[in-house]
Amino acid sequence: MRQPGRFVTLEGMDGAGKSSHVMTVARILEASGQTVLITREPGGTPLGEKLRELLLNESMDIETEALLMFAARREHVASRIQPALAAGQWVLSDRFADASFAYQASARGIDWQRMRSLENWVLGDFAPDLTLLFDLPASTAVERTSRRAPEDRFEKEALDFHERVRQGYWRRREESPARFETIDASQGIEAVAQQVNDVMSRRLRQWGVA
Ligand SMILES: Nc1ncnc2c1ncn2[C@@H]1O[C@H](COP(=O)(O)OP(=O)(O)OP(=O)(O)O)[C@@H](O)[C@H]1O
Ligand SMILES: [Mg+2]
Repeated sequence: MRQPGRFVTLEGMDGAGKSSHVMTVARILEASGQTVLITREPGGTPLGEKLRELLLNESMDIETEALLMFAARREHVASRIQPALAAGQWVLSDRFADASFAYQASARGIDWQRMRSLENWVLGDFAPDLTLLFDLPASTAVERTSRRAPEDRFEKEALDFHERVRQGYWRRREESPARFETIDASQGIEAVAQQVNDVMSRRLRQWGVA
């Protein structure tokens, strides 16, 4: 019987370089013989993409925002991520639950434990096998996103919001250090891709995959 696949997530603030490197990770996994499903949050399903539109563009109460994020995530996990993993595929998601802690809890101010209750309710003990955290100073990330248009309502937030996002990710990393690999995303694209390569090769060896 096929082994179930593994679940890998990319996290980090807006402009950290997640989308720029998602294909790098996919190619490494494919080269090791895996079938890879690439997806993203918020979104990843037809319903989730509709919720994404609302979440990125409509202003709303912060708890509404957190609940909609987890509603979209529930749909994503149940209809896409878990079936793919069960079929032996590897799943690569551009953002997942850590983003809710970074954005809705740390940056917007929802109580951390309350967010954990919501996570527990929606996901139980389901979590990524590996999370690549693209880490860089908020000022560098904001500089990068300011060069592109149009900005969504998260990107439009001030520098201190993005600093709190960064700190939220650090807190999540402290809570599950073995799950995280930190990428120094302040470096140039080539150097970041090299770090991604090194980290993935090491993890695949640990898993007995490569
Ligand atoms: N290491 C890098 N050095 C310089 N520019 C970069 C680097 N990585 C990405 N960029 C550029 O920064 C911008 C943001 O990158 P990208 O879209 O990959 O970030 P992201 O983490 O996916 O952001 P978002 O969360 O907003 O989707 C892009 O214009 C990209 O080309
Ligand atoms: Mg992106």
